[in-house]
Amino acid sequence: MLVIQGLGKTFRKAAKATQAVQALDSVSFSVDEGEYVCLLGRSGCGKSTLLGILAGLIAPDEGLALCRGTSIQGPDRHRMLMFQEAALFPWLNVFNNVLYSLKFVHELSKGQKCERAESFLDLVGLADYHHFRIHELSGGMRQRVALARALAPDPDILLMDEPFSALDAMTREQLYTDMQRIWRTTNKTILMVTHNVREAVCLGTRVLVMERPGRVIADEKVLLPYPRAMNDTALVRAAADISGHLQKTDEHGQEKAG
Ligand SMILES: Nc1ncnc2c1ncn2[C@@H]1O[C@H](COP(=O)(O)OP(=O)(O)OP(=O)(O)O)[C@@H](O)[C@H]1O
Ligand SMILES: [Mg+2]
Repeated sequence: MLVIQGLGKTFRKAAKATQAVQALDSVSFSVDEGEYVCLLGRSGCGKSTLLGILAGLIAPDEGLALCRGTSIQGPDRHRMLMFQEAALFPWLNVFNNVLYSLKFVHELSKGQKCERAESFLDLVGLADYHHFRIHELSGGMRQRVALARALAPDPDILLMDEPFSALDAMTREQLYTDMQRIWRTTNKTILMVTHNVREAVCLGTRVLVMERPGRVIADEKVLLPYPRAMNDTALVRAAADISGHLQKTDEHGQEKAG
């Protein structure tokens, strides 16, 4: 589904070469259809830059990024990106926010688009909220709308940048359960950035760990059966193993700083 080879990106501030920041340094990995890959790493290690490149919003300096064998040249509806804060249209109700994402899906009739929007709102658990305005929803419900909106156009891959970070713990727990169900129902390929190791192990079929400046230092399969619960002993143990990789990156960071 996704092939990334030798991807590099350095941000250069105009006229000041000394301020160049290397965000990605030769990142290579691939993602198979239907995988749920979680990307972990300390702040500033290039996770959002990587997602931005895959979404077609940032151009890389080096390397290749292919989706279904085609080079990624710009944003399109086959690669949908979701952020920490749901970027919804406040002047549209819940239903129309989801319907809007189907605007450019020309092969569907108006009736089919309405059916599609309805079925994805059902899937994310918002069947009774079609006519609500965005400001009337909780943060968790807004993320559910954003998820329905991202999935409705049937993208090849769903890119999620810390989608649950701004939510309270109880809302997050519920979303972990629902997210597993939604992923298994839709068979979507997902690449999700998170800071939370247990969240990564709870949701992901695979966890990639990155370190500064922009390198992948571990790529681990998570072999636990679904559905997974956050407080399951095996899950906690798997998370501790992955945390070991992250601690190594801390030590590196200190060495570099020292
Ligand atoms: N548009 C930009 N211009 C200049 N520097 C940038 C830009 N975007 C990102 N950077 C820098 O590139 C590096 C990687 O940033 P990125 O946002 O990808 O990290 P991240 O892993 O997503 O961090 P966080 O976990 O805090 O979200 C950082 O040093 C950041 O300051
Ligand atoms: Mg980020």
